Amino acid sequence: MAEPRPPPRVWVSQPLFDDVIARLEEYFEVVSTSDVAEYTPEQISAALSDASGALVTLNERIGAEQIVAAPQLRAVANVGVGYNNLDIPALSAAGITATNTPDVLTETTADFGFALLMATARRITEAERWLREGHWRQWSFQTMLGADLHGGTLGILGMGRIGRGIAKRASGFDMRVLYHNRSRLPEAIEREARAAYVGFDDLLARADHLLLVLPYSKQSHHLIGAKALAGMKPTATLVNIARGGIVDEDALAEALAGGKLAAAGLDVFEGEPAINPRLLALRNVVLTPHIASGSLATRRAMVSLAVDNLIAALGVGPNAGKPPNPISA
Ligand code: DGY
Repeated sequence: MAEPRPPPRVWVSQPLFDDVIARLEEYFEVVSTSDVAEYTPEQISAALSDASGALVTLNERIGAEQIVAAPQLRAVANVGVGYNNLDIPALSAAGITATNTPDVLTETTADFGFALLMATARRITEAERWLREGHWRQWSFQTMLGADLHGGTLGILGMGRIGRGIAKRASGFDMRVLYHNRSRLPEAIEREARAAYVGFDDLLARADHLLLVLPYSKQSHHLIGAKALAGMKPTATLVNIARGGIVDEDALAEALAGGKLAAAGLDVFEGEPAINPRLLALRNVVLTPHIASGSLATRRAMVSLAVDNLIAALGVGPNAGKPPNPISA
């Protein structure tokens, strides 16, 4: 009698939620780690060398070099909506399915974008630090004066699902919402979001608060640089919950230090987890460690969706061959 074939092997790059990951064990041999790991490109290639599938996070870059080293690889499930860590054209050319986890994180990420905007405009973390350092001697009218959200103009750059979630929250604050996007949204969606489409320069010039929610690509690399920042109001707040590389951090630090921009709230950084020291030195910046989608329920839902995607992309389970969230090249 022929030996039964061993189950396909899948690599899970980071500790996620064991009980959710355990669903993969019904179909695959799972190679995982119990420690948060930082991999070199060579280590990723080695981990993929005998894998049919991979469940990865934004930390793991998979490109041509890894694909060549992974002859059996058929599917890569990214745990995240952004997938700039994956070379999609190279994966597609090699016939490898890539997937991501949209929708499940929309509301949580929009909540956080709004929270970061409020913390930044109203100087909440700066005020707390000042208080803890013992500077509060007496209540005064002039302490930590910030910018209002209500009645102001919110600019949203990138009007996908998360951008629209933020627009929905802004209407509860009586804000005027302007947006710019690669393409204008249908009128019905604009009406529902109570948002008006404007050109890029117009958005910069009119926003009291500008939120970045667009995908990172060659086109959006350093889109918010010295020139764009010079087009904003000196009283404006900038919030980035998209990807760090969209902002030229040196230009941002320069604008913040020189009074050309009031404040910034940053959840993402170009070289994260390393932070530009010029930003660290400024008081008018709120810095958080890429946690916009980080509620417990949402992070579990993201892992669960990535597991569904991987099972289906590897041709087994109830949706065999039809992963819910394929990414097209
Ligand atoms: C995403 O989903 O792209 C986030 O940045 C990581 O959770």
